[in-house]
Amino acid sequence: MASPTAIADALGTVRDRTLALIAPLDDAWVTRTPAPIMSPPAWDLAHIAAYEELWLVTRLSDAAPLHPDLQATYDAFETPRAVRGDMRILDADQSLRFMADVRRRAMEVLAHADLSDDGPELTAGGFVWHMVAQHEAQHDETLLQTLQLMPAGAYAPTALPLPDGDGTGLAADPVDVAGGTLVMGAAPGAGALDCEQPPHERRVAPFRIDRNPVTIGRHLAFIDDGGYDDPRHWSTEGWEWRQREAITAPLHWHHHGGDTWTRTWFGRAEELDPREILCHVSFHEAEAHARWAGARLPTEDEWEFAARPDPASACGARAPWGDDPADGRANLGQSSFRPARVGAYPAGVAASGCAHMLGDVWEWTSTEFHGYPGFRAFPYREYAEPFFREGYRVLRGGSWATQEVAARTTFRNWDLPQRRQIFAGLRLAWDAA
Ligand code: AVJ
Ligand code: FE
Repeated sequence: MASPTAIADALGTVRDRTLALIAPLDDAWVTRTPAPIMSPPAWDLAHIAAYEELWLVTRLSDAAPLHPDLQATYDAFETPRAVRGDMRILDADQSLRFMADVRRRAMEVLAHADLSDDGPELTAGGFVWHMVAQHEAQHDETLLQTLQLMPAGAYAPTALPLPDGDGTGLAADPVDVAGGTLVMGAAPGAGALDCEQPPHERRVAPFRIDRNPVTIGRHLAFIDDGGYDDPRHWSTEGWEWRQREAITAPLHWHHHGGDTWTRTWFGRAEELDPREILCHVSFHEAEAHARWAGARLPTEDEWEFAARPDPASACGARAPWGDDPADGRANLGQSSFRPARVGAYPAGVAASGCAHMLGDVWEWTSTEFHGYPGFRAFPYREYAEPFFREGYRVLRGGSWATQEVAARTTFRNWDLPQRRQIFAGLRLAWDAA
């Protein structure tokens, strides 16, 4: 049975992160968005509070909402991102007060809640609190995408140093995975969200996969080889996107002629580190890079197969090293503000030999986002089901901006193939030789 203290700690850890994240943000930018595909930071903050109030206060008690007039404003479906920048929303102080007031009420409800494993499905094992903690962590990652798009001077975070890659990862050959039966998905009760369930068997054919995600250096080689100008590497849809948007490099990169490149990173210009893991590419760019390299993207089945801690294990391990916290084995948790260099996490390697499976960058897979066989929306329809359609692609593994509460080998993220403000890169795969 889940303990109230552990639940309160998990929620408190994420809240500390949210507050630390926005502390360095210039006041003028809290209620403004740098791009119509994102929200003003204050919208995310009050939406975090509104979601928590719905699930942890009004659904679990007879208390009324604090801002009944703002329910639609903070409902992600009723108020899409494109209009959030132009409407009246709570300001920074009001949003922070809303978050704190809701949290106080949620803790009062928690103190009297039924946490038994055989109680109602919503609360059994602490499910709904875990869902709310993950939701806030997911919005913290969204906030980081917004902050990354802001102009110089708006946001200057303090980044903690990463372990240095020893370079051994660079020389490594791809690994051959024998394939077999994968029990894909998360077991019920593991705190996983609806689209990760139910666990079901899949046959995975033998395949080959890279030990590391693609680096900046390899993507520079793709650029130098004319990769962005050669339609043979691109899908029809990808090439149309590349032409229409005049895409010649990952988002935030700038070419100054010859070999000179910089990127804008949280408002500052930086040189590119060729050993760092590539980030800010769309699915289309990832697919083109893979084809140029004589490879392909992995399917999400292959990715999950390669992420398991033990080839004999059925399913359900949280991480490539098992169920323990990362404890220095992965670049998760938002404090590094960048992907690591390959080779930085030798202790995080999966049984397959693949490194950097959790953390650093989300990895695009070739799989379109659909429900698993037997999918059942729970506890609400809008989390994943509306996106089960052609066009959305599955991403796996979490990024440096993902918190541990929301990072697992079974976690399925999804986005449109043209999106690249997300912290996404790729890993190469091949059919078995
Ligand atoms: C799982 C990251 C695609 O941010 O759109 C946030 C998570 N769901 N609020 C998103 C989510 C509801 C979702 N992703
Ligand atoms: Fe949300």
